[in-house]
Parts: sequence; C-alpha cells; structure tokens
Amino acid sequence: MSTQHTGSPLAAPAEHAFDVSDPVTDAATDASSAAARDSAAAPTTSARSGWIPGTSAIRFGGDYNPEQWPRETWLEDIELMREAGVNLVSVGIFSWALIEPREGEYDFSFLDEVLDLLAGAGIDVDLGTPTTVPPAWFWKKYPQSRPVTREGVTLGFGSRGLVSPSSPEYRAASVAVASALAERYGSHPAVVLWHVHNEYGAPIGESYDDYSVLGFRRWLQDRYGSLEQLNSAWGTSFWGQRYGEWDEIDAPRQSASISNPAQRLDFKRFSSDALLACFIGERDAIRRHAPQPITTNFMATSCPSVDYWTWAREVDIVSNDHYLTAERDDNHVMLAMDADFTRSLAGGRPWILMEHSTSAVNWQPRNIAKRSGELARNSLSHVARGSDAVLFFQFRASRFGAEKFHSAMLPHAGTSSRTWREVVQLGSLLGAASSLRGSRVEASVAIVWSTESFWAQDLEWRPSVDLAHRERMEAFYTALWNLGVTVDYVHPSADLSGYAVVFAPSLYLLDDEGSSNLRGYVAGGGTLAVSYFSGIVSSNDDVPAGAYPGQLREVLGLSIEEFLPLKSGDTVGLSGATDAAWTGSVWSDAIVLEGATAVSSYVDGPAAGQPAITVNDSGDGSAWYLSTRLDGADLEGFVVDVLTSAGVAVQPPVVGLERVTRVADDGTRYTVVINHAETSASVGIEGTDLATGEPVAADAVVAGGAVRIIRESRH
Ligand code: GLA
Repeated sequence: MSTQHTGSPLAAPAEHAFDVSDPVTDAATDASSAAARDSAAAPTTSARSGWIPGTSAIRFGGDYNPEQWPRETWLEDIELMREAGVNLVSVGIFSWALIEPREGEYDFSFLDEVLDLLAGAGIDVDLGTPTTVPPAWFWKKYPQSRPVTREGVTLGFGSRGLVSPSSPEYRAASVAVASALAERYGSHPAVVLWHVHNEYGAPIGESYDDYSVLGFRRWLQDRYGSLEQLNSAWGTSFWGQRYGEWDEIDAPRQSASISNPAQRLDFKRFSSDALLACFIGERDAIRRHAPQPITTNFMATSCPSVDYWTWAREVDIVSNDHYLTAERDDNHVMLAMDADFTRSLAGGRPWILMEHSTSAVNWQPRNIAKRSGELARNSLSHVARGSDAVLFFQFRASRFGAEKFHSAMLPHAGTSSRTWREVVQLGSLLGAASSLRGSRVEASVAIVWSTESFWAQDLEWRPSVDLAHRERMEAFYTALWNLGVTVDYVHPSADLSGYAVVFAPSLYLLDDEGSSNLRGYVAGGGTLAVSYFSGIVSSNDDVPAGAYPGQLREVLGLSIEEFLPLKSGDTVGLSGATDAAWTGSVWSDAIVLEGATAVSSYVDGPAAGQPAITVNDSGDGSAWYLSTRLDGADLEGFVVDVLTSAGVAVQPPVVGLERVTRVADDGTRYTVVINHAETSASVGIEGTDLATGEPVAADAVVAGGAVRIIRESRH
C-alpha cells in the first residue's frame, strides 16, 4: 500500500484577500479558542438546564419553513399541525436573507406574523438563528470569509453551511442577528426554545482559509505556551519540521506525502473549538435577552468533525438529528446506537430528537422509503432511549430547491397519503404516552467513545487499512443490541463506578487521565474489555516509551511485542477455555503475558500458539483483552463471557425485538417494546398499555412490526 503522492503538491493557494503574516495576537482570532475553553472551564450545568417549558406532553413536530409558502398555506399548515397533535416547530433556520435583507437592516414582519399565528394556535416554537446560511450580501462584502478545503479550493455561495468559523466578520454578523432575534422574541409567547445555527460542522468541519490559519496559531499558543513545547509535542524533529516562529505554522493542508499527524490532530481539535466558539458567541448573545433554553442540533455518531463531549457541556438541552442509512438492513440498530450516544452526551437527561425523516431522504445513493410502521418504530426507539421529543425534517415537503424529493410530515401527496396517516397516529400515540416524559434509561454496561481517538486513528499510515474504529464500535454495539443489553457511552475520563462492565472496542489514543481512570475503575472492582489497537498512543499521537499498549499495559497485564495484522481475507482460529472455536480476522498481536492469563490462543496464523484473548485480575476487578477481530456469533460469545464474568445476566434474546426500560423518579417503569421482526413476540412484561389503557399480561404479544409502550405493574 502506498498513500504517497495523494493530491497535487502544487494545489492552488487560497485567494488571499488580506495579509496572513499578522502575529498571533491578531484580534481577529481571539474568540476561537479562548471563548470555548473559558466557557468549558465554567460550571458544566447551565442554570437553564432542564427541559423545554410549557406542556408536559412529549414534544412532537418538526422543522417548519413557511418562507417557502404563501400565507394561505400557513393557515392550512397550522390546521393540519393541530390535527396531527404537533406542539413544537422549529422556525427560521434558513431565514437570514429574509430577516436581514441588507446588513444591519432588519425586517421581522414575516416572523412576527408566523409566530403570532402559531402562538394563537397553541403551537410552540423552537426559534432558529439563521446563521448556517449567511445572505448573498454577506458574501459580496466579505468574500474572505469563504471556507477553503484542505486541497485549496475556495468554496462559493449557493449552498449552506459554508463559512470560515474563524472569520471575524461572520462571528460579528451571526452574533448580531442572533442578538436582534433574541431581543425581539425573548418574551414572545410562542418561543420556548432557541435553536442556534444548524448542524455545526456539516458539511464543512475544517477550513484552511487565512482566518483559520491565524486562529490555529492562536489556539496553539494557548495550548502549548511556547514553540519549544509545540515542537516537542508535534515531534518536529521528525522529517525536519522544526518551527522557529509562530507565523511559520500553517494549517496541515494537502502536502506531498502525509502531514505531521500531531499537527493534523491539533487542527481537528482547533476546528471543533472554532465552531464551538461560534455557538457560544450566539448563545451568550441570546442569553442576554431571552430566558428560554438554548440548543444546537448535533449529529451524534455521524459528525466526524465535532467533539460532542465538549459541546454537550455548553448546550442547555442536548438535541440530535438522525437519519437512517436506509439501505442497511440493520439501520434500526445503528439508530439505537446513535440514540444511546445522544442520551450519554446529555448525561442521561432527556434529550430532543430534533430531526429525523418520516420516510426517504434525498441525499443517499438510493433513497429507500420507510415501510409501513417503520416511522413509529424509529420514533419510538428514540423515545425508548431517552428522547422526550420526536421532531422531523420537515413539516411540509418543499416544492423547489435541493430537498424537494425529501419526505416530510406532510408529503407532496397530501393528507390522503400513508405517511400523513402514520404521522397522525404517531402524534396520538405520543400524546397517550406523556406520563413517561422525564423518566430515565438505566444501563449497567458502557462503551467508551473518544472522538479524539477516532480522529487520530483515522489518520494515514496505520498498520493496516482494515483498522477502522467505526467498524468495531458498530460491531460491539450490535452484539450488545442483539443480546438485549442497553448501554451508555462514556468518555475515557468519565466516572465509571456505576457500570458493571465497560467495553473499549477501539481506543487507539488514550491520554494519561483516561488511562489512569480505566486503571482506577478496574482496581475498584470494574470489568473492562478492550479490543485490539487500543491504548497505543497518547494525546499527541505519540507512542509512550516501551512496548505497546503503553497506556493500557499495566491494567491488561501484558505487552505486545509486535503487531501481526493479517492479509486481506485471511482468518485465524482461536481455541481455549471457551467451548466454541472462534474465527478472527484483520489483526493479531504477539502478546507477552505480564500477569494476565490466556483464556484463548491462536491455533494458526502469525501468532499461532500465542495468546489471543487474555484476562488480568487487577485490584478488585479484571481487564480482558481481545487481540483479533471477531464477528457475529463469535463476538456475541466473547461479549457474553465478559458480561457473565461480571455477573451481568443475559436473557435469551428474541430476534428483532427491541425492549428498553425507562424509570421515573417515583420508580414507575415504562418499557417500550418494538418488534422489528415480521412475526409476533411476547412482550414479557405485565402492566398497562399506554396507547389503549388496557392491562397487558406477560404473554401478551407485540405483533410483527408493531410497537407497544407498557407501564409496568411492578415498581
Ligand atoms: C439535515 C438538515 C436539514 C435537512 C435534513 C435532510 O439534517 O439539518 O436541514 O437538510 O438534513 O435530511
């Protein structure tokens, strides 16, 4: 494999609209890291944390874009919203050009009217700041705010989500419009929530424009203090990259061979912080005028450019957008993974499903429509996993523009459509399920999720192209989903004491704090299970002194003399204490036991006769290591072994049956049962069906494809 010579070393430079040789003290860059980190140091829960004020019902509705329609349609929309039980709509997300037609000149007549109509109908508003699409006048006046790709392409207007997050003109303009909106609508009776921007980091996560380079230098100066520290952290003695002045440092733009991985990793951190500073700027402007909680819509497991653990501390309520990868047969499992991660970002508190789709999206290679009942199954899975709101993109399908083939609550086919009927049914089901609002999901098993580790692992020149963090995260999650085990996600430095088992399927980068936290967890009686290529580097993508896995050697009780990746398609056999003969692929290690016991060994392959799976008793707990890729039933077997060793009972799973329990403060248990299979299954719980109010016996059934929400008899 050679990844040299990717892209052209002669990539065109950005269009320089101004001089980039300014020192790092340039005021233009001040906000990017400082605001983010100052704020991160503040208390982690906002005084406004809690829930959306107003109705105690589950929130139901979606994005609403009335600017695309004449006034008479608004009136029809509102009638139909009432018919469907809609109680929250997100308004104004793409309306900057309308409300600020010329710089500094506001025209709120459209929003005034729409918000008054909605208030009159008792429909609450999640008011968007429109800063994901700066107007045409902005681009004409401030072309230097356009983002530049890593390859050096300056992106043009005509789309959305494109701006350099480090542009001072953008920062000023976005704060100004957010402030004007908050001043005008901070006490409007319809407004119950603020929705800042839209999906930060998509489609542009990193920008290589001149402002970003200045911001990056500033961020680095904050992080390292001196060039000496930076040179050491980045290992610039390798390939002769030593820096003598701050303004010699550039963004890690496309180069002849691969760029310095520590530089790239820091640029990712900087880019996430720069976007976060944009959010914080708008949020704080809103807070000066408006009392409602403030959110911005995440894309939990599907936004590669933002570290949501940091972001989650800054929002009053976590909200998330999720779209199925429609062609995947297991798309409902991936949905559950995304929802569990979102709940974990929210610290277990209720969260908002800000967007999903009623049926097909329009941006995948083949946009597969949802089958009958899938809409309810998808929505209820989010609710089961802690969402107290079910919102869609969007209320009425657009007739023009980029998303005219996207489904909506009200499709082009109108109210006689199946989609509309299912939307109305869902509104009624959620209305009947209000009592579960505020209850919490309980999990005794966690999976470690480190965005920084994923950023680092996905850089070039790793020991095998088959090392893919996402693939392992999905595999372990799927095994646990199939076994009916509900999981939380945790940051490596989180308090793990409440979990019986913590899985770390892919934790390539682990800093000192994280590794000592994992050690402490095991010492205190926890069971940790780590998969291959974990604990390999520290925070600057540097290998700690000595054998791999330096950050986990002690807790795992082993060292790795050499990585032994497998050839494409090759497999290795495992044997040992487990009854089944398992098959590994992709990876193996030359393991030296340093206290751990081998519970399974390789029967063939490059590590034949050597340990494949180990367990190390350490303190009051134990740490497992799995040195190869297991899939399907073999991986489930491994997961069951680990869970059983920690005393976590695994019930025989029913294929396709998703069952998650939420527990209210008073101990009332609500179990959401979703049958993804075509055949019926028994619910296994006694209680009351919230939709019908009828009693439910344990042997009552949930039909193939159906959902039930059951308030359990036992507390
Ligand atoms: C994203 C955006 C929405 C819309 C949907 C379509 O989530 O936030 O504005 O484009 O995708 O799926």
